[in-house]
Amino acid sequence: MIVKENISLKSYNTFGIDVKARYFIEITSVDQLRQSLQLKDYPPIFVISGGSNMLLTGDLERLVLFLNIKGKRILWEDDSRVALKIMAGENWHDLVMWCIAQNFGGIENLSLIPGNTGTAPIQNIGAYGVEIKDVFESCEAMEIKSQRLLRFNGQGCRFGYRDSYFKKEGKGQFIITSVTLILRKKDHVLNTSYGAIKAQLKQKSVTKPTIKQVSEAVIAIRQQKLPDPNILGNSGSFFKNPVLKQQQFNKFSTNHPEAPFYKLEDGTVKVPAGWLIEQTGYKGKRIGDAGVHKDQALVLVNFGKASGAEIQQLAQSIQNDVHLKFGIELIPEVNIIK
Ligand code: EPU
Repeated sequence: MIVKENISLKSYNTFGIDVKARYFIEITSVDQLRQSLQLKDYPPIFVISGGSNMLLTGDLERLVLFLNIKGKRILWEDDSRVALKIMAGENWHDLVMWCIAQNFGGIENLSLIPGNTGTAPIQNIGAYGVEIKDVFESCEAMEIKSQRLLRFNGQGCRFGYRDSYFKKEGKGQFIITSVTLILRKKDHVLNTSYGAIKAQLKQKSVTKPTIKQVSEAVIAIRQQKLPDPNILGNSGSFFKNPVLKQQQFNKFSTNHPEAPFYKLEDGTVKVPAGWLIEQTGYKGKRIGDAGVHKDQALVLVNFGKASGAEIQQLAQSIQNDVHLKFGIELIPEVNIIK
């Protein structure tokens, strides 16, 4: 285990923000993780994995642990299902592609989501009607203070929309080391309810899609709308879609009957933040090297040399203007690291 000093984190975060880590360790095993948590005489730790959901706003005077533990294996399988244990450092999209090649179904709608598998449960990644919670069996996480490895099942993770126990009570206390998913080997349950997927499949004249074809449709949709972080720095959706109580929604929709919305089961209503941001005139806007993507207003981008503080400033002015115009509070989905 090598402790490096003053390492640039530019290539470790998908926003491509150039800040330095005072100390830096690459972790490739659970044992190494335990050992590095036991190190004395270092500043507090900061964990980075895929770096796809964070905005770094300054140099980190911390011990940065780059979680890069690889590996996956089948725990058990029967006629129709397979339980797959995946180590935290496995790239999520590579995992999805591998599963599709094995004909393991359930995560095809989550194709092309950046980041690593270990961080996927933290914000319960979701897209096109599917969330990781739908195929989740359990995860193992190391408690930072005791270095004990604990197992959390789906209930223990308390999943919600872009939310889990690890963002609430458990925040900052655990490092997820592996995730176990239960996937289907046959009789795939496809979710093609999302309008854009239907349209994409129709365009390709696919009537009975396979999991591969659903994945290809999702990839095509995402590539049309979302910038590739390898080309243009970004962290996907910067804000969560706000969820309004019925009364607040009624008032909002009376004033803005043209606004898109989705009713949720509990009577609350989700309004797309991308629409709100576009209406306040930010879509495609650029201030220095910080900007709002031209095809999806929910995505903030780094055109090259933006600092985290500049992107944060842009985010703040979007929040202010959306609040002024609609009375709705936008909450960042991305973790802003000070
Ligand atoms: N819209 C606009 N202008 C925009 C963007 C969106 O008017 O610039 C409106 C459109 O009317 C569209 C609606 O917003 O119908 C919804 O847009 P989209 O289908 O692109 O989805 P989203 O609500 O903006 C969410 C997730 C995405 C996920 C997609 C598909 C959140 C915060 N984001 O975006 O997740 O891929 O749905 O399921 O829930 C991510 O988390 O990084 C991410 C990309």
